[in-house]
Amino acid sequence: MKALVVATPNDKTIANLKIADVKIPKPTTGQVLLRVHAVGLNPVDYKVVEGGVPTWQYPHTLGLDVAGEIVAIGDGVTGWQVGERVSGHGDLTKNGCFAEYVAVPTYQLARLPENVSYETAASLLCGGLTAYTAVERKPNLKNVHTILVHAGAGGVGSIAIQLAKLHGLQVFTTVSTGKIEYVRKLHPAAIIDYQREDVSARLDELTNGRGVDLIIDTVGKAEAQKDLTRLTYNGTLVTIVDVPDIDAAEMFNRGLSLEVVNLGGAHLSNNLAQKADLGRMNAELLQLVATGKVAPLIEKVISFDQLKNGLQAIKDHQVVGKLVAKID
Ligand SMILES: NC(=O)c1ccc[n+]([C@@H]2O[C@H](COP(=O)([O-])OP(=O)(O)OC[C@H]3O[C@@H](n4cnc5c(N)ncnc54)[C@H](OP(=O)(O)O)[C@@H]3O)[C@@H](O)[C@H]2O)c1
Repeated sequence: MKALVVATPNDKTIANLKIADVKIPKPTTGQVLLRVHAVGLNPVDYKVVEGGVPTWQYPHTLGLDVAGEIVAIGDGVTGWQVGERVSGHGDLTKNGCFAEYVAVPTYQLARLPENVSYETAASLLCGGLTAYTAVERKPNLKNVHTILVHAGAGGVGSIAIQLAKLHGLQVFTTVSTGKIEYVRKLHPAAIIDYQREDVSARLDELTNGRGVDLIIDTVGKAEAQKDLTRLTYNGTLVTIVDVPDIDAAEMFNRGLSLEVVNLGGAHLSNNLAQKADLGRMNAELLQLVATGKVAPLIEKVISFDQLKNGLQAIKDHQVVGKLVAKID
C-alpha cells in the first residue's frame, strides 16, 4: 500500500519524507484494520519527524488522526463490525495512518454519526480532543465565568472557543493580525491581536483588573509563565505545550491551579479507563458536531500527494483551523 514514511533515522525533515510502498498491516489482538478515507494533519506530525522517536522501526509510517472503514478484525475484539465508519487518534510510537490502511486498537475509536463525513471526523481528533480535554475534563467549571483561549485560529483553539461558549463562558482569544477575520466567525467576546496589543493589559481592561478565571495555553512555556500572572484568585491554567515554572508564581497565595493535557500520553499509560476515554471523548465530540453545536473549521481538504506541503504549511503558521487529506 501507499504510505508517507520516515525512511531512515537520519530523515529528520519534512522535505525528506517519502511516499513508499509498504505492507498492509495485520490487526493484532484488540485491533481492527481500517481502510483509511481521511486523515487530519497536526503540528505533532512534523515535530516527531524533527525530534525522532527512539522506538520507531523504519520505514515508519506517519499520521495520528484517522477516519475510515473497518475492513478486518483482530483476535479478542468484540463490539465492532466490518463495514463500520469510525475515527480515532493514534499512538505516535506506532505506525500511523498517512497510508491506505492502518491497524488500530479499538479503545480509541468512535462510530461516525450518519451526517458526519470522514473529512469532518478526521479534523476533530488531535486538536479537537485536546480542546475537549482542556475544557471538559481538566478544569472545574463551577464559578468560572471568563476564559482566555490562546491561538483561536488554531486546531485546538478554534474548538476550545466553541466548547467554552457552550458553557456560557465569556471567551477572550489571542490571534495574529492576519487571522482575525477567521476567528471573528467563532464570535468570541474579545479578540486580542497578540502581535499589536499588550495581551496582559488588554485582559486587565476586559476583566476590570480582576484577571481571568481559566486560561488554555496553546503557545508554550514563556506564554504560560505570563498566563499565571493573568489569572484571577482561584484561577486555573490548562497548559498543552509546556509547563511554567510554578515556583516563580504565587500559586498558594492566589489559590491557583495548574492542569496539563498530554493527549497521546494515554496510549503509553497502563490505565485502560484513561485509554478508553480517548474513544469516549471522540464519541461525545462527534455528537456535538452531528447536532450542530460545534462546527470544525476545515481550511482545505488536500490529497495524499500534498501531505508534505500540508505539514510544511502548518509549520509555517499558514493554516487557519484544520487541514485534512482525503485518501482515495
Ligand atoms: N499536549 C497535547 O496533548 C497537545 C495536543 C495537540 C496539540 N498540542 C500542541 O499545541 C499547539 C497548538 O496545536 P494546534 O493543533 O492548535 O496548532 P495549529 O493549528 O498549528 O495552531 C497553532 C496556532 O498558534 C498561533 N500562535 C503562534 N504563536 C502564538 C502566540 N504567541 N499567541 C497566540 N497564538 C499564537 C498560530 O498562528 P499565528 O502564528 O498566525 O499566530 C497558529 O494559529 C502545538 O504546539 C501542538 O503541538 C499539544
